Amino acid sequence: MSFGQQPLANALVAPGETGNEAFYEMAPAVCPSCSLFQLVEQPAAENMFNARYPFFTGMSSHMTQHFTALAEDRIAANPSLREDGFVVEIGSNDGTLMSAFARAGIRHLGIEPSESVAKVAQGNGIDTRIGFFDSETAQAVRREHGPADIIIGTNVIAHIGAINEVGTGVAALLKEDGQFVIEAVYLGDMLRNTAFDQLYDEHVFTFSATAVTNVFGRHGLALVDVAPQGVHGGTMRYTLAPAGSREPADAVAALLAEEQTLGLADPATYDGFRQRCESIRDDLAALVRELAAKSGPIVGYGATAKSATVLTYCGLGPDDIAWIQDSTPAKQGMLSPGAHIPIVAPEKFAAEAPDYAVLFAWNHRAEIESRETVWRGKGGKWILYVPEVGIA
Ligand code: TMP
Repeated sequence: MSFGQQPLANALVAPGETGNEAFYEMAPAVCPSCSLFQLVEQPAAENMFNARYPFFTGMSSHMTQHFTALAEDRIAANPSLREDGFVVEIGSNDGTLMSAFARAGIRHLGIEPSESVAKVAQGNGIDTRIGFFDSETAQAVRREHGPADIIIGTNVIAHIGAINEVGTGVAALLKEDGQFVIEAVYLGDMLRNTAFDQLYDEHVFTFSATAVTNVFGRHGLALVDVAPQGVHGGTMRYTLAPAGSREPADAVAALLAEEQTLGLADPATYDGFRQRCESIRDDLAALVRELAAKSGPIVGYGATAKSATVLTYCGLGPDDIAWIQDSTPAKQGMLSPGAHIPIVAPEKFAAEAPDYAVLFAWNHRAEIESRETVWRGKGGKWILYVPEVGIA
């Protein structure tokens, strides 16, 4: 299926610089041999992750808690980390996860190509190497720091088109009894919820346990545990280890069997997904236009990467959605990619208290509801589109 020509979802545009945007065709497909769900055309990594990258993990207090809990869980389960352990994070962003290891006095290294966020981590005292992770970097890190007990990549491994470089690099850097932890949007949840906006340029892959087993099996890494996570609208945490070093938990076989039942290898599953996406696209565009005609401008809440897919796929622009509020200072004053909708600070949302807001940050709904009780008290309503279009 194709979602048409899409902009790079985090490439926000400065007003007056709207002429030079890059577009690509967002067309997902599934590999019939390894079951990996992927975008056929993958924009160059340097165009996505650079000094202008505007996504800061620490912007969400809920995500900060989630990553702190992940670090605490691994520290408790691996007491030897406190002796001379070494933890590496791929795509360490602003250092939110690494700071929990740093606070426990554990040797750590974040590897992050986007200078905008990496500099924030460095400023907070988190050891951070600015650059992409590949097999060469992995070998250099091993030479300088020794092998890693744990390598973690949350919301990043599925962003790396050169996935076999990741496999080779992790296998080279990890200790014989080490572990590789991945968190990524889960294909099963995306399909179940028709969460089509989980697809954008950075999400070049959407992982399943089946695909993770096949892809990393090539590099001598076995899937030894899985644990669903509530964050980002349906995430799976995968733990991998050098083949034969650990007994897989029962949850692995159970999830692999569930994926068979879900029909992840069956083209009809994806055909159903495509049809549901098309219904949501048509219903959402119609609802936004109907409400805007009746009660004035609709606005958006959360200038998420996901919103670029929604806006472009549904053909919505500034005439339909007047502005999008976002709490990230680096996004405010910019225009959304492709649709060119102004991004504004939360103060405008509070002052204008619009009747309806499209909740583009639906994955942060619990945190946002607790922040927006005043607006909700005034009768403010969300327009939702996952798993279906509605008003709440
Ligand atoms: P994400 O869905 O990719 O995590 O992006 C969430 C975006 O929503 C990010 O730009 C920050 C923004 N945001 C708000 O504007 N208000 C909030 O309360 C939260 C949690 C996020």
